[in-house]
Amino acid sequence: MLLAASTQRTIGLVILAIVFIGGLVYIYFNIRSARDEIGSEIELAANRRPYMDDDQLETKRLDLALGTSLVLLTITAITLPLYWLGEPGRHEGRDIDTDRISTNRGEEIYVEGAQCVACHGSEGSGGAVSTAITTEDGAFLAQVSWKAPALNTLLSRFTENEVIHTLNVGRNGVMPAWGGGGGGPLTDQQLEEIVYYIRSIQIDEDQINIEVADGVRDGVETKLRAESGADWANELRAVNEAKDATARDVTLASREIFGFDCTEQTDDPRCAADNDAAQALLAAETQHADALNSAVASWLFDVDAVRQRAMDAALAANSALDDEGNEEDWRFATLELLSTPGEIEGQDLYLEYGEILFTNTAAAGTYSCARCHTYGWSFDATGPYSLELNGTDDPILEDYTQGGGYFGPNLRGGTTLEQFESAASHADFIAKGQTMGATYGRGGSGGNGQMPGFGPNTDSSPVGPTIGTGDEFSYPALLTDEQIDAIVAFERNL
Ligand code: HEC
Ligand code: HEC
Repeated sequence: MLLAASTQRTIGLVILAIVFIGGLVYIYFNIRSARDEIGSEIELAANRRPYMDDDQLETKRLDLALGTSLVLLTITAITLPLYWLGEPGRHEGRDIDTDRISTNRGEEIYVEGAQCVACHGSEGSGGAVSTAITTEDGAFLAQVSWKAPALNTLLSRFTENEVIHTLNVGRNGVMPAWGGGGGGPLTDQQLEEIVYYIRSIQIDEDQINIEVADGVRDGVETKLRAESGADWANELRAVNEAKDATARDVTLASREIFGFDCTEQTDDPRCAADNDAAQALLAAETQHADALNSAVASWLFDVDAVRQRAMDAALAANSALDDEGNEEDWRFATLELLSTPGEIEGQDLYLEYGEILFTNTAAAGTYSCARCHTYGWSFDATGPYSLELNGTDDPILEDYTQGGGYFGPNLRGGTTLEQFESAASHADFIAKGQTMGATYGRGGSGGNGQMPGFGPNTDSSPVGPTIGTGDEFSYPALLTDEQIDAIVAFERNL
């Protein structure tokens, strides 16, 4: 578009220069060839009234008429080309206006019209929706809170056409269909306007890295709090159990006594105990914050040491790997070792790190794989207590299988080893995702691009009225190569 604008401008300037110089040349020759006026000797035709004679005419009147014409002619001669020259700018201006108007309309649909905000959070930061889960025969199981992914990184993982597809068909009934294509209420133009708005709220790479790292930290913390044998962990667990027990009493009371609520019944001993237990947990957490922090840091340090060991082992097997230009080969030789059971000491720890990334809870689970590959993860099925609170002790929890399949396929039992013969091609798939209509691996079907890409994304066919041919948009990666590798090793051992 810019290129076209500048070509038109150049042509315009050249023509203007030719006209201007041509004009000067014309005036020059005109003056030179001019001869003195000889006056009209023509006789008046018999049927014509004599007009004013020269003496009358050649006065200020004529000067005025000629002068006015000259001024008007000059104005026309200058403004027309100028108008033409301004045309590309006007095009650009119109595009910017249309962009702004579409974005504003999209925002209105997001916030008011379709209420995306209610589930996906303000500015697409992620949220949740309360929904009922049922057995396979449709019997009610529980009312749960289901994570709705953040949309402020959406265009890093999907192309705009893939997003339009999702909006048309909805997602698994948890999110209704929005576009007319799937029986929803919105027009194609409105879907495009939503995409314009989503474009305007994408966050940058630094923010993404911070969110992912925070999620990893939380994952490691949760793990250590549950598993560490250190004194601080034992104490935190004891205080936490006491808190859970008191919270449970309050919940049971609120189920049995209509209107029971600790903001009202502040004097009730159950509420007082619950409050004390919550305070005690907070105090214990503050007291042990340093111990916890350093435990998390040293856990991550140990993971890095395992990876380092694998890099060394790969290099020992092939000393050319650290030559310049071989970075990728070294990375994938390392990954192959880390994916193979028994090759590297400490592999288990590395796979645990992979699982933490696979289940990253940051931004409503947006960066996780479990939200699409593990049924139940999106409604915290690992936390039996939250389901119980909703009135069921159903064995649905026993079905919880990491990577067992949900919206995305089952990844267990060596299926990924079969699909991707090398860890390298597996990692490449995670970075790029499944592209609309394209096949992958050994037998991956050409679906609708619903497996997101976690590496950087360049969208070369964006949608909307202001998109010209060749326009493309680029978005940063959601996961680093190092993070993708850990997930790949984890998956290849599921
Ligand atoms: C009733 C709650 C709800 C509303 C309203 C809603 N969504 Fe969703 N949306 C969800 C949930 C939940 C998911 C994830 C479903 C799952 O885990 O299978 C989702 C998934 C998506 C996805 C797929 C993203 C990904 O990374 O997988 C997109 C895109 C999306 N929604 C966009 C929108 C837009 C745009 C609107 C408004 C027009 C909207 N949603 C309204 C609940 C909602
Ligand atoms: C928005 C949902 C979604 C998320 C999030 C997601 N996937 Fe997928 N994944 C899919 C879908 C859908 C497919 C199947 C694509 C197809 O067949 O066209 C798939 C396919 C795959 C496959 C190929 C499996 C096979 O045997 O064909 C692998 C491996 C995979 N995903 C890994 C991951 C990893 C790793 C992550 C996290 C970094 C992840 N997925 C996140 C939806 C998702």
